[in-house]
Amino acid sequence: MSHAAFLTELTSILGERYVLTDALDTALFLTDHRGRYHGKALAVVRPASTEEVSRVVKACARAGVAVVPQGGNTGLCGGATPLEPRPAIVIRLDRMNRIRSVSPAEETIVVDAGCILADIQAAAAKEGLLFPLSLGAEGSCQIGGNISTNAGGISVLRYGNTRQLVLGLETVLADGTVLNSLRRLRKDNAGYDLKHLFIGAEGTLGIVTGAALKLFPGIRSRCVAMMQLASVEDALAMFARARKVFGENISSFEIIGSSYMDFVLRYVPGTVMPFAQKAPWYLLLEVGDSQLDAPLATAMEGFLAEAFEAGLISDATIAASLAQEEAIWKLRHGVTGEFKLAGKTMSHDTSVPVAEQPAFVRRVEEGVLAAYPDANVMSVGHIGDGNIHVVVLFPHERFATSDEFEAASDAIDVIIDDVAMELGGSITAEHGVGTTYRKRLARTKNPAELGLMRQIKAVLDPENRMNPGKLFLPDAAA
Ligand code: LAC
Ligand code: ZN
Repeated sequence: MSHAAFLTELTSILGERYVLTDALDTALFLTDHRGRYHGKALAVVRPASTEEVSRVVKACARAGVAVVPQGGNTGLCGGATPLEPRPAIVIRLDRMNRIRSVSPAEETIVVDAGCILADIQAAAAKEGLLFPLSLGAEGSCQIGGNISTNAGGISVLRYGNTRQLVLGLETVLADGTVLNSLRRLRKDNAGYDLKHLFIGAEGTLGIVTGAALKLFPGIRSRCVAMMQLASVEDALAMFARARKVFGENISSFEIIGSSYMDFVLRYVPGTVMPFAQKAPWYLLLEVGDSQLDAPLATAMEGFLAEAFEAGLISDATIAASLAQEEAIWKLRHGVTGEFKLAGKTMSHDTSVPVAEQPAFVRRVEEGVLAAYPDANVMSVGHIGDGNIHVVVLFPHERFATSDEFEAASDAIDVIIDDVAMELGGSITAEHGVGTTYRKRLARTKNPAELGLMRQIKAVLDPENRMNPGKLFLPDAAA
């Protein structure tokens, strides 16, 4: 089939308006969020229903065209950009943004894949319930992308990552079949639990078009505190203490290193240091309770006073208003844009067992600085989950060519990944593999696991048309 005939077929399925081919219309969707990858596609299409997705994918199967699904295009690893030389289309799910149903009795919600995460949170809140997935991009990322990357965020400690929040999925397979596993069941042992194949598969096995999700009781009392402390060891000691005092009520337990804090205060407009002095590390603790007027602030004051006496923290502040809560969270959130201003960055998403984090942070900093004494090694992350983001920053003019930058980036990847592997960690905790982490996955994943992943891919997508080139390096390079 000629490309022209293929595009005519797409137009007959979707209408001309929803088959974008003009360079101006498609540019935004052919570049990744970080601006690192620029792709090419025959068209960017915007189906309105699962049935339309299925018909489009069937047309692609007949024409031998690859399919790259795209949600809010906020991913950090280039997972939604068409980068293979073979002809491809991008399927945007943004028009599929219906909340299909909400059940307060079941604490479930069923949604289209293109729903924006914040809209799902709001639909749950309207019923006094909580959809707990929460991350920096929540105002524009879509649930289909969250599911496809098994997104994490700031509430994983309490509610699990996206995988734990999905009850059922609707997926379109490589041949266009609609796989309906959209059950709202809390318990279902009827054979293999196939939905899990598609969660975190980054569109390489099929396209998520709908999901049944878990909801939770709404949070009616909340307390947010920030502390200063001397070491990651002390942060873990604080975590153990906080678990004893607050138990399941801990929603977020986040760590910020001093150089990251300095960076935020310098580059993120409107941020203010809540302490008189600097410290090596900062902790952000949020606790919440479904009970109205739960005495969380009193418990927090007691908790912090004891920690102070034990010499674990040097200073602390408790937010006394919503504005103060937001000001504290602002010190932690959403700085990808500012990184671009500050220089050349290399961002990481490592996880290690929770107790290994002090060793991880120390060894990574020593290793990177030994190789690149001029690097600014910043650490920030979800210490309650063992997920530390190491961000290595260099001045703009540090690398003369992009090849030099890539070579340094690869060398730093190896330093960090070797430490992670020795400590029993993972090269990506919550961002996924996409394009960026393929080489690192190939180097660090054990061969039996990687082999089985390839076998699964071959069964579900024998022609390698579903988001080809993601997760796996091309055969020749593997
Ligand atoms: C964060 C994102 C980048 O934790 O994962 O800030
Ligand atoms: Zn994170």
